[in-house]
Amino acid sequence: MNLIAGKKVLITAGPTHEPIDPVRFIGNRSSGKMSIAIADELARRGAEVELVLGPVERRPVSQEVRVHSVMTALDMYEKSTELFENADVAILAAAVADYRPVNAANQKIKSSEAKLVIELEKNPDIAQALGKSKQDDQIMIGFALETFDETKHAIGKLKKKSLDFIVLNSLNDSGAGFQHDTNKIAIIDKQGNNVKFELKSKAQVAVDILDYLNKLLYEKLVH
Ligand code: CTP
Repeated sequence: MNLIAGKKVLITAGPTHEPIDPVRFIGNRSSGKMSIAIADELARRGAEVELVLGPVERRPVSQEVRVHSVMTALDMYEKSTELFENADVAILAAAVADYRPVNAANQKIKSSEAKLVIELEKNPDIAQALGKSKQDDQIMIGFALETFDETKHAIGKLKKKSLDFIVLNSLNDSGAGFQHDTNKIAIIDKQGNNVKFELKSKAQVAVDILDYLNKLLYEKLVH
């Protein structure tokens, strides 16, 4: 049974860019590939998809996915909190920059100084903020990209951000993570299940993640 059809799903995706001056920024290597594959698979299953997408070239194939382009973590935070109110499911898949420069310079910073110090301040944690306003009938899915103590860190994030399940990818697995077309994941849910998957294409990983979501929607329906 396809329980995803008709559901309103918010996805955050891609990196964020935090301006240092008009030409430079702090960013990361997220390509948005995994989350865009999920957006396309959701549309294929008949969901209403709102994709809040950081600065990447890639776009979903499906014309049905509504794309909201954002640049910074603060933009992404604002758009996501607005869309979350009406969402049945939120998939927090963006690689949000944890910090931003306190003051972005209005003019290009010249290279005359021997040293340059950029003061950074914390960005809001979008997943955690949404988790605080989450209603019982809303489902939240997060991602964790870890390099050590993977499971322990993923479980910590699952709890801290009030997630129903978290998708863990380890940078230690070859072919997994940023830039690749393949990914190797484990899904850890709040009941304590830890399901490990093989290395697959990102399109196939999107199918596995949404099958897991469908199973969760079914369990909620019958309980
Ligand atoms: N996340 C978010 N907003 C942030 C940071 C993270 O919504 N400012 C979400 C990510 O989209 C992901 C989950 O939280 O679903 C975990 O992201 P990650 O960067 O691994 O977690 P952090 O809490 O930033 O932990 P770390 O100290 O490992 O960077």
